Amino acid sequence: MYFKKMMGEMCYLSPVDPDDAPVFTRWINDYDVTRYLTEAPSCYPLQAEREALDKLSREHNYCIVDLETDAPLGICGFMNLNHLNQTAEVGIFIGDKDYWGKGYGGEALSLLVRYGFDVLNLHNVMLQVVAYNDRAIRCYERIGFRTFGVRREAVLREGKRHDKVYMEITRSD
Ligand SMILES: CC(C)(COP(=O)(O)OP(=O)(O)OC[C@H]1O[C@@H](n2cnc3c(N)ncnc32)[C@H](O)[C@@H]1OP(=O)(O)O)[C@@H](O)C(=O)NCCC(=O)NCCS
Repeated sequence: MYFKKMMGEMCYLSPVDPDDAPVFTRWINDYDVTRYLTEAPSCYPLQAEREALDKLSREHNYCIVDLETDAPLGICGFMNLNHLNQTAEVGIFIGDKDYWGKGYGGEALSLLVRYGFDVLNLHNVMLQVVAYNDRAIRCYERIGFRTFGVRREAVLREGKRHDKVYMEITRSD
């Protein structure tokens, strides 16, 4: 079941429903999706995914839901929230590949970041992305994230080393 916590024009962000474990288990076992994520080498059977969603649902993580159809599309949320320094990290994935490149990720992340600045009083939000994820980097740049560092050859995937890109956005940006 979904609730309109943050409203966009194409999607909204809802508290995570652990009953969505079956569809999330399908996505998290789809290498087309996880080749961009740290979860690629992990094993996520249904029960483990349900437990993961249950934990995520009690923190600042939100299901991305299509406004028109109320279908779940993926998840985004904050990690490493530090209220003293007003910093956090964000993560996002859209599991339904039919929705990639249509603006849903950008809108969902914009809603999340705005909520972080306006409601959680964050000042600086960062993210990590593997350098071959051109779609994600383009999406993040369009929102206003800027690269502040590159960790060279820090990801070993499919027999090749890849850079990891670190991006940030501040409240004033
Ligand atoms: C990364 C992700 C969240 C982005 O969401 P999205 O809805 O696909 O992104 P958007 O449509 O908002 O923006 C994508 C941008 O990249 C462009 N783009 C699309 N496909 C691209 C490609 N193959 N290469 C480069 N740019 C591409 C789009 O044109 C768009 O730019 P524009 O607004 O200037 O036209 C989503 O694609 C996803 O979940 N991917 C799989 C998992 C993942 O990579 N997660 C992020 C890990 S850091």
